[in-house]
Amino acid sequence: MADFSFWDERYARPGFFYGTAPNVFLTGAIGRVPNGGQVLSVGDGEGRNGVWLAAQGYRVTTVDGSAIAVGKAQELAAARGVAIAAHCADLLAWDWPVAAYDAVVAIFVHFMPSERPLVHARMRAALKPGGLIVMEAFHPHQHGRSSGGPPVKEMLYDRATLAADFADTEIVLIEEAATDLDEGRHHGLAEVTRLIARRPTAQ
Ligand SMILES: C[S@@+](CC[C@H](N)C(=O)[O-])C[C@H]1O[C@@H](n2cnc3c(N)ncnc32)[C@H](O)[C@@H]1O
Repeated sequence: MADFSFWDERYARPGFFYGTAPNVFLTGAIGRVPNGGQVLSVGDGEGRNGVWLAAQGYRVTTVDGSAIAVGKAQELAAARGVAIAAHCADLLAWDWPVAAYDAVVAIFVHFMPSERPLVHARMRAALKPGGLIVMEAFHPHQHGRSSGGPPVKEMLYDRATLAADFADTEIVLIEEAATDLDEGRHHGLAEVTRLIARRPTAQ
C-alpha cells in the first residue's frame, strides 16, 4: 500500500477538511444519472460527496487511500442514516470493478502524469455502457493559488488532458472555468476543469 500519511495527518484533525456539504458541480451534474443507480466515488476523502449521493437515493461505493478518511466517511454516513460501501485502497493498485457503475465520480482527485492515464482508464472501464464520468479538477492556472489543489503543476488537469484521457467517450460537457469555492479548505477563487463524459452504449 502506498503511503497515505499526508492525507491521514490532514484528516486526523477535528472536523471535516473539505466540509460535509457536497461539491457544487457534482450536485448539478448527477441528475443525469437515474435515481437508484450505482455510483462509484473515487478519492472520496471524508465522504461529503459519497454520503450526499447516498442520501439522494444512489447506491454508493467509495474508495480512498486514507484509513482515517474512510472511517470518518462511515461515521458521516451513519450520522446521516445512509449506507455506503466505503473501501480503503490505493486506486493505483485497487481491483477495479469493470462495467459496474452508472457513474464514476472524481472530485479534486489528482495524479502524476505517470499514474493519471491508468486511473482514468480504470474509471472509464468501470462504467456500464451509457454510464457517466463526473469530474472536477484543478486547472494548471490554479498553480500557486491558496484556494486548493496540489502544489505540483504536473498534477493539475486542463481540458486537453481530460479530452485525451477520455477520448473514447462521448463528451457531454468539458470546460475550464473560474469558480468561487466554498468547500472547507477549498475556499476562494479557483481555476478548475470540469468533465461529464458518457461511455458509449455500443461498447
Ligand atoms: C483533495 S482530496 C478530495 C477528497 C474528496 N473527493 C472531496 O472532494 O472532498 C483528494 C483525495 O484523494 C485521495 N487519494 C489520492 N490519491 C489516492 C490514491 N492513489 N488512492 C486512493 N485515494 C487517493 C486522498 O486520500 C484524498 O482523500
